[in-house]
Amino acid sequence: MRLPFILARRFVAAETLEGTLPIVHELNRKGLLVTLDLLGEYIDEKALANEACDLYIDLLRTLSRERAEHGLRATISIKLSMIGQKIDYDFGLGNLKRLLAVARQTDIFVRLDMEGSDVTESTLSMFEEVYPDYPDHVGIVLQAYLKRTAQDVERMCALKARVRLCKGAYKEPASIAYQNMDDIRARFIEYMQHLLLHGRYPAIATHDDRLIDATKRFVAEKSIDRDAFEFQMLYGIRPETQVQIVQEGYRMRIYVPYGRMWLPYFTRRLRERKENIWFVLTNLFRK
Ligand code: FDA
Repeated sequence: MRLPFILARRFVAAETLEGTLPIVHELNRKGLLVTLDLLGEYIDEKALANEACDLYIDLLRTLSRERAEHGLRATISIKLSMIGQKIDYDFGLGNLKRLLAVARQTDIFVRLDMEGSDVTESTLSMFEEVYPDYPDHVGIVLQAYLKRTAQDVERMCALKARVRLCKGAYKEPASIAYQNMDDIRARFIEYMQHLLLHGRYPAIATHDDRLIDATKRFVAEKSIDRDAFEFQMLYGIRPETQVQIVQEGYRMRIYVPYGRMWLPYFTRRLRERKENIWFVLTNLFRK
C-alpha cells in the first residue's frame, strides 16, 4: 500500500520535477542555494540502475535549461546505490562516469551522498577514481559519527576535494560509530575546523545551533571569507533560520528531495526528532 504524499510534504518538495521546480525558484528568490535529490535508494537490477542514471542525466539537462531560460540555481545530490554501486563496483563506476560527463557539459555540480557504513569505503574509492577528471563537478559527504572519519577528512583534504560534513543519518553499531550526541558534536566541530582550514569550499550541513554557532565563531576568529564555505539544511526543517542565516551574510544551500520514492528519506527524518512527527501530524490537517 502506498502512503499518501500529504504525510511527507513537509520534508519532500513534490512527487514530480515539474512540481518541484517552482519551489526551487521560490527558494532561490529568498537568496537560498539549492541541491536537488531525486529520491530513491539501493537498486539491485542493472536495467533499473541504468534507468536511474538516465533520470539523473535528464535532471542535469533540465536544470541547465532552467538556468539558461529562468536563472534557476541548483546542483544535484545523488546516491551511488541507485546507479549500481552495490550490484557491481565497475558497473556503478561506469554509470557515475556517464553522469559526470554530462555534469561537466552542463556545468552542474554533483554531490555523492554518503549512505550506510557498508558502502563508505566503496563510495570514497569511487569518488577518488573520478575526482581527478572532474575536480569542479563532484564532491563527497563525510559523517562525523563514524570513527573512521578523522582519517577520511585528512584523505579528502589531501585531494582538496569538496566535502559536505554532516552528523550521519544511518543506524550504525557502537564498534564503528559514536552514539553519544556530545561525542558526535565534538567530532563535528573538530572536522569542521579542519575542513575550513585545509579543505576546499566545505559544506557545513546541520540544523544544530551549537554547530552553526561554532562555525560562525571559528570563521570570524580565523578571518575566513563567508563565501569560502556554505551552510546546508534540509528542505522543510527550520525554514526561518535558513533565511535568517542568509540575511546575516552567509551562504545557505537547501537540500530539496523530490520524487515518488520518499518513504525511506521521510522515515529517517521522523526518527531523528520526535518534533518532526508533530509537524507531520499538523500537516495532515492543513489544506
Ligand atoms: P539534529 O536533528 O541532531 O538536532 C540537533 C539540534 O538542532 C536540536 O537539538 C535543535 O537545537 C536543532 N534543531 C534541529 N531541528 C530543528 C527544528 N526543526 N527546529 C528547531 N531546532 C531544530 N546524512 C547522511 O548520513 N548522509 C548524507 O549524505 C547526508 N546529507 C545531508 C545533507 C544535508 C544538507 C543535511 C542538512 C543533512 C544531511 N544528512 C546526511 C543528515 C545528517 O546526517 C543528520 O542526520 C541530520 O542533519 C540531523 O542532524 P542535525 O545536526 O541537523 O540536527
